[in-house]
Amino acid sequence: MDFDFENRLTSAEEIPEDLELDNDNPLRPKTLSDYIGQEKVKENLSVFMQAAKIRQETLDHVLLYGPPGLGKTTLSGIIANEMGVNIRITSGPAIEKPGDLAALLTNLNQGDVLFVDEIHRLPRTVEEILYPAMEDFSIDIVTGKGQMAASYHLPLPRFTLVGATTRAGQLSAPLRDRFGVVLRLEMYTTDELAKIITRSAKILNIDITPDAALEVASRSRGTPRIANRLLKRIRDFAEILSAGSITIETAKIALKKLEVDELGLDSNDRRMLEAIIKFYNGGPVGLETLAAAIGEEAVTVEDVYEPYLMQIGFLSRTPRGRIVSPRAYEHLGIPFEGLSDQTKLNF
Ligand code: ADE
Repeated sequence: MDFDFENRLTSAEEIPEDLELDNDNPLRPKTLSDYIGQEKVKENLSVFMQAAKIRQETLDHVLLYGPPGLGKTTLSGIIANEMGVNIRITSGPAIEKPGDLAALLTNLNQGDVLFVDEIHRLPRTVEEILYPAMEDFSIDIVTGKGQMAASYHLPLPRFTLVGATTRAGQLSAPLRDRFGVVLRLEMYTTDELAKIITRSAKILNIDITPDAALEVASRSRGTPRIANRLLKRIRDFAEILSAGSITIETAKIALKKLEVDELGLDSNDRRMLEAIIKFYNGGPVGLETLAAAIGEEAVTVEDVYEPYLMQIGFLSRTPRGRIVSPRAYEHLGIPFEGLSDQTKLNF
């Protein structure tokens, strides 16, 4: 996926800075009790993990889905940690051939977690050998061609597949059906994000006042990854402005410089909303047309920009295309001239 490194601050996509720390990112909680928010997910996971432990079984396969940046990788690490097993981390596009998957699977130990991010992007040929691996813990590998072809039946250790996806709808039904546990991650509330920011600040040795933590939280688009990234950037301003302490005043100045507005919208969000208003009279406009108009890929628009704009009621997806709401006009300071009759029908 193309990435706009200029405007990455409020993107929920993982960027190298996040990955750098990945092996031992101190901000990632290691236990369920340290993990803030996603109460329903935590409650259910905790029951399933305890039950598996009591029965001395391997945890059933888990599918985590929801917008990027909400903690799917973090949760998979917590699952492995709480189950006392190792984790192998990979992603759908990284597993190109059946042989790549076979190599990963045959190297697992009993009970291990195999985390596959972006599982909706697994090649079909790989997906097909994943089915028996998930169901029967064995794979059949064919080597050679024609007369030289040979088939091997390989038993595998019992393992837990944790799949993560931003788009559960794109998973094939046979793959989806093989997950015993399916959990949807929700966007975080401002209070939860403020707790996460306060926790992260403590770990990074940053001084932040409670009102500043709430201010940053309210501009983090419901996403911990964005909250933590803003915290680090605001700290830089705080070094210069207020001896390293993040006060509400420093936070506001820094956020203004970073072009992150009161609702957490950045220049990309505003550019997209303005494009729909100016070029398409507020919509409806089709996804592909919109993506082309702002020079982004359709998947980026769908996965990165739209979830939050829909959450705050600025944008709706209708069968005829995307529509900007009157509230978004108001936020952008653009006079709203009323919806066409056709658009009204779609609201
Ligand atoms: N850091 C990132 N996400 C977190 C979460 N959900 N809880 C605690 N710390 C976090």
